[in-house]
Amino acid sequence: MNGTLVIVGASYAGVQLAASARESGCEGRIVLVGDEADAPYQRPPLSKGFLTGGFSEERLPLRSQAFFDEEKIEWMPSMRATHIDRTHREIQMHDGMRIAYDHLALTTGARVRKLDCPGATLDAVHYLRDLRDARRLAQTACTARRAVVIGGGYIGLEAAASLRQKGIEVTVVETEPRLLARVASPWISAYMQRAHADKGVAFEFGRKVVALRPLHDAVSVVLDDDTHLQCDLVVVGIGVIPNTELAAECGLTVAGGIVVDECARTSDPAIVAAGDCAAFVPHWAQDARACRIESVQNANDMAKVAALAVAGRPQPYRAVPWFWSDQYDLKLQMAGINAGFTHQALRGSVEERKFSIFYFRDAALMAVDSINRPQDHMLARKLLAKGARLSPQDAQDPAFDLKGVVQ
Ligand code: APR
Repeated sequence: MNGTLVIVGASYAGVQLAASARESGCEGRIVLVGDEADAPYQRPPLSKGFLTGGFSEERLPLRSQAFFDEEKIEWMPSMRATHIDRTHREIQMHDGMRIAYDHLALTTGARVRKLDCPGATLDAVHYLRDLRDARRLAQTACTARRAVVIGGGYIGLEAAASLRQKGIEVTVVETEPRLLARVASPWISAYMQRAHADKGVAFEFGRKVVALRPLHDAVSVVLDDDTHLQCDLVVVGIGVIPNTELAAECGLTVAGGIVVDECARTSDPAIVAAGDCAAFVPHWAQDARACRIESVQNANDMAKVAALAVAGRPQPYRAVPWFWSDQYDLKLQMAGINAGFTHQALRGSVEERKFSIFYFRDAALMAVDSINRPQDHMLARKLLAKGARLSPQDAQDPAFDLKGVVQ
C-alpha cells in the first residue's frame, strides 16, 4: 500500500493500526487524527493507580513522540472528523480541513453512557473514560469523604476500590441484582461483592437513580424506593455507546457497531474499522449475530488484522478475547467468553485467594476466570486458542498438568 491511510481515532486501536500498517509494509502517508488533546495514553490505569496516586501521568502515554516521528506517523491532536465523502475519498475535519485518503480506518471507540435524570449534570457527578475525566475525578477524590458509585461494572468497581483505598466511604448502586452481570458468572459476581463488602463498600442492588439533588456542600442521590444517599462525590460507570455516527452518516453498515467482516473490512472496501466501535461475528459464535468486544486486547488484535487488510494481505481475526480488572489486591483475569456455560470447575484455593473457574459448554472449554492466578490465565488463553480438550474433572485436579495439554 503506497497511498494515504487516514486513521480516525487515536487510542489503542488507532495507534496499533498505524504501527501495524508500517510493520506490514504500508509505505505511504499515515495520518492519525484524534479529537483529544493529550498524546494517546493508557486507559486502564485511570480508574486504578492514576486515581489512587500510584501511577503518575508521565507513565500514561502509549507511545513516545519519537515513535511517531521515526515511523512517520502524522499524529494530529484535537482534530474531530465530521464527515466522510466516500465518493471522493476525502474526510472533513471540524475546522474545515479536508484530507484525501486511499484507505480509511475507523477506530472511533466508544463514549460513556450518560446518566439521564434530574441533577445529572451537577458538578459532583463524574465519569471515567478519558484523561480529562480522570484528572477531574482524582482532584475531587483528594477532598471527598462519601461517594456514591452508579454502576457495578468494571469501571464502577475499580473506582469503588480506588476510592476505598483513599479512605472514602462508598456505596455502589446497581440496577441488576448482581455485580458485573454483563461479563461475569454469578459465582465471580458474588466473590467480588464479598471482597468489596469486606473493605466496607455498601450496595444497593436492583435500584435505579431517579434524581440527584444538591444539598449544602453535598448531593443527595435519590433511588426509586425513595432511599436518599448523601455524598460529596458521584461516579457514574453505566456502560459505553460506540461512536458510529460518522460511519452511519456516510452510509456504512452499522448495527450496534460499525459492521465489519472477519478481516475487519466494512461494507466499503476502502474502509476498515477496529476496536470498541466495530461489530463482528466472532469465530466462536453460536449464531451469526454481530457483537462488539470492549477491551484493550480486542482493540490491539483487531487493529493488527485491519492493518493487514489495508496492506492487501487480509487475515481472519481469530484471537481469544481476554480482559482484566485490578481491585484491591485482587487481579481478576478473564479468558474467553463464558455466556451459556453448562458446567464450571474450580482450580486452586478460594481461602488463599488464588483460584480459577473453568467454564464448559457440555464438553468444550469456553472460558476461564482467574483470581490471582496469572499462570492459569496465560495457559487458559493457550488452551482456548488451541481448542484443547480437557474435562471439568481435569481442570479441578491440582495434579493435572495444564501445561502438558498446550504443548
Ligand atoms: N444505574 C445503575 N447501574 C446501571 C445503570 C443505572 N442507570 N445502567 C447500567 N447500570 C449497570 C449495568 O447493569 C452494569 O453492571 O452499570 C454497569 C456497567 O458496566 P459495564 O457495561 O461493564 O460498563 P462500565 O463499567 O461503565 O465500563 C465501560 O470501560 O473498562 C471498560 O471494559 C470496560 O468496556 C467497559 C467500559
